[in-house]
Amino acid sequence: MPIKAIEWLDNRVKILDQTRLPQEEVYLELSHHQSIASAITELKIRGAPAIGIVGAYAVALGALKIEAEQRDEFLARLRIIIHTIAATRPTARNLFLAIDRMQKVAEAGEDIEQIRAALVSEAVKIHSEEADATRKLSQLGAGLIQDGFTILTHCNTGALATAGYGTALGVIKQAKEQGKNIKVLATETRPLLQGARLTAWELKKANIPVTLITDSMAGYFMSRGKVDCVIVGADRIAANGDTANKIGTYSLAVLAKENGIPFYVAAPTTTIDLSLASGDEIPIEQRSQEEVTHIQGVSIAPEGVEALNPAFDVTPHRYITAIITERGIIKEPYVEGIKGSNPR
Ligand code: MRU
Repeated sequence: MPIKAIEWLDNRVKILDQTRLPQEEVYLELSHHQSIASAITELKIRGAPAIGIVGAYAVALGALKIEAEQRDEFLARLRIIIHTIAATRPTARNLFLAIDRMQKVAEAGEDIEQIRAALVSEAVKIHSEEADATRKLSQLGAGLIQDGFTILTHCNTGALATAGYGTALGVIKQAKEQGKNIKVLATETRPLLQGARLTAWELKKANIPVTLITDSMAGYFMSRGKVDCVIVGADRIAANGDTANKIGTYSLAVLAKENGIPFYVAAPTTTIDLSLASGDEIPIEQRSQEEVTHIQGVSIAPEGVEALNPAFDVTPHRYITAIITERGIIKEPYVEGIKGSNPR
């Protein structure tokens, strides 16, 4: 059974609660934009493409519930809903692109009923476009994977994170479907263990051999020739190729370069933000200290100790061997290649 991270059910959206995995497969049916906003903030639904899709559905659901007689009043209330969704998580480009699209569709509409219908179909379109893009980029990226490769990946970038085929994990799944004999080293991905909980779960479901390592073991395995390439996803890619992804990605990229191992980023072009010249401008989400001082609710540090929790880091483009998108594989010089991929 394919994993359905997000499903549109006309007047509600069904999501698989990722905070309960791998112990339990619990689905939530949400019909209010505010409950979707909370689900995004709490990482019940997460991953850049997935939060773009669910953010668009949240705007559509919000619009279905607005009680207004006049178009102007309706649009004013819709702007507040869009603002609520935008305030959930700051780093993933896909969220802002999706809700900008929803805003434009609403403003182009003539009357309230027509706007509501247009918003629902735009959200469905965003979902299907994101899913198609991940399938295409996975097919392109699989060409970089050779038979017998051991691939190191970080965080979770599969069906759960994309509500589609996957980005880095999509490339891995596609290589396996092509009959390549591959193995995966998955980093556990502290603090919230997306690698241990979600990537290991998805790969086991797909019958792809996976071995879990702690984040701090990556250099050990790379220096001993046990890693043939690294593939990660992305939350936002600046115009020069600098890439924000889950905290720890930058360290992996530096280690990969030091050890002569190719380092690939896989992402749909909806993750590219041409308005940012470099990664220095990418907003980095700071999350709660408790995510560091506790593991799944259990305290692992002395009471009251200070902790820091940036959720993402930025990998400078000079560490990236190639960026795999649905419109092609981009290499240095990134400024030209990224512009040529024609992102929105
Ligand atoms: O904080 P998360 O779990 O939403 O972070 C997700 C990642 O960093 C993924 O690697 C990224 O969204 C790319 S996934 C398609």
